[in-house]
Amino acid sequence: MKAIGAFVAISAAFSTSVLASPANIAARATSTSSSTLPAVSVKGNAFFAGNNRFYIRGVDYQPGGSSQAEDPIANVANCKRDAAEFKKLGLNTIRVYTVDNTANHDECMAALADAGIYLALDVNTPLYSINRAAPAQSYNDVYLQSIFATIDAFANYSNTLLFFSGNEVINDDSTTSCAPYVKAVTRDMRQYIGSRGYRQIPVGYSAADVDSNRFEMAQYMNCGTDDERSDFFAFNDYSWCDPSSFQISGWDKKVQQYSNYSLPLFLSEYGCNTNTRKFEEVAALYSTEMTAVYSGGLVYEYSEEGSKYGLVQINGNSVEELADFTALQTALQKTPAPSGTGGYKTSGGASQCPVQSSTWNVTGDGLPAIPAPAKKYMTQGAGKGPGLTGAGSQNAGTTSTGTASAGSGQISATSTAKASGVGSLRASELGFAPFICGFVVLVATLFGATLL
Ligand SMILES: *[C@@H]1O[C@H](CO)[C@@H](O)[C@H](O)[C@H]1NC(C)=O
Ligand SMILES: *[C@@H]1O[C@H](CO)[C@@H](O)[C@H](O)[C@H]1NC(C)=O
Ligand SMILES: *[C@@H]1O[C@H](CO)[C@@H](O)[C@H](O)[C@H]1NC(C)=O
Repeated sequence: MKAIGAFVAISAAFSTSVLASPANIAARATSTSSSTLPAVSVKGNAFFAGNNRFYIRGVDYQPGGSSQAEDPIANVANCKRDAAEFKKLGLNTIRVYTVDNTANHDECMAALADAGIYLALDVNTPLYSINRAAPAQSYNDVYLQSIFATIDAFANYSNTLLFFSGNEVINDDSTTSCAPYVKAVTRDMRQYIGSRGYRQIPVGYSAADVDSNRFEMAQYMNCGTDDERSDFFAFNDYSWCDPSSFQISGWDKKVQQYSNYSLPLFLSEYGCNTNTRKFEEVAALYSTEMTAVYSGGLVYEYSEEGSKYGLVQINGNSVEELADFTALQTALQKTPAPSGTGGYKTSGGASQCPVQSSTWNVTGDGLPAIPAPAKKYMTQGAGKGPGLTGAGSQNAGTTSTGTASAGSGQISATSTAKASGVGSLRASELGFAPFICGFVVLVATLFGATLL
């Protein structure tokens, strides 16, 4: 969602009180989780928690509003207060748009786990992100260091569900030329997770609700070789406005359009508010009309921030449940997940890369190579992150030189790790035995290092 001017004043006042609160100091204390949620992984075009299909039943959690660089899960008292509300709503996931990668999140992540809640996390911050107006310049090593440090800060929690590599970077047809950078960042994050030996936390992009290029972006993020494909694709969708239906909203057409898509797909924001919200779309989203193709979604948004999407009103330390809260709670209660596995596809191939057109300004499938100084993070780790108050990355650091052609061996440990698990299907699609794949990569890496 785009920021609305009025947010700024409201959230600035809010942030002052948060930063000053004693709870923020308590957040640095280490604690032990009393419960552990099973880690979620990708199989075919679905998420699984253990042997059970996992559908995202979530909300977008952005107290303070979208214009505010604030970490809502670094404040333990607020986190615990809201975790109780998430549980009451019947959720299993929240999305957080910004975190401080220097803060300690142990206690909040444990409170969320206790409430049965997973975290879908955007790794970008306003200061450390790809700038859609200058993608080549902002794709640099200083930026990558920050997002890798964020991965380090969250990789160890079993209730870290997934990472978003970008959010609405492309917001019209003219910004589609940013797509190679978004895809390169996704590739780099997946490579980092593999190289650091973390579990395969899924990485993917959250696309804006733009009809003219959304499907092209979905195809693009899933085309080419395994090392360049995402683990999932998500988009924001405000097209179901109650009273509506599967047909009137056009959701039936999208299910048809994505019917062969081979990655998990979900709505990273939904919940049109032009009319009174009854959340009738919940019944459709978790019905077998959709579950073969979709894996649930996240309602925009938890707190009322001036744009009338809030489920609750936050007043100081207390939370008031609004009418939309009860409407969503009721809709979720009435809508269990389908039994069995919901008709998901156990396997599927890469998409075709979209062809260049008046609405899609990308040629070929070459991606920018990782900026050279960022390569060392793969072996050494990223180190301490810059937090929310660093100098920023958009005009900093060393940018990419050259193109990494598909399958050039930019990815190392991830390819090998994938071969032993979910990704083995993809490895065989490529006609590589895992050993050969790893070997080729090793040679390519050594060769690449020599060239530098
Ligand atoms: C990750 O968690 C395990 C056990 O839960 C712990 O032993 C280990 O020290 C943690 N690692 C980091 C980097 O926090
Ligand atoms: C397409 O993208 C290129 C950069 O890759 C840019 O120079 C060009 O102006 C864009 N064309 C349109 C029509 O937006
Ligand atoms: C899905 O794939 C099948 C088999 O390849 C094909 O017949 C069908 O047209 C495809 N559907 C779409 C919507 O692309």
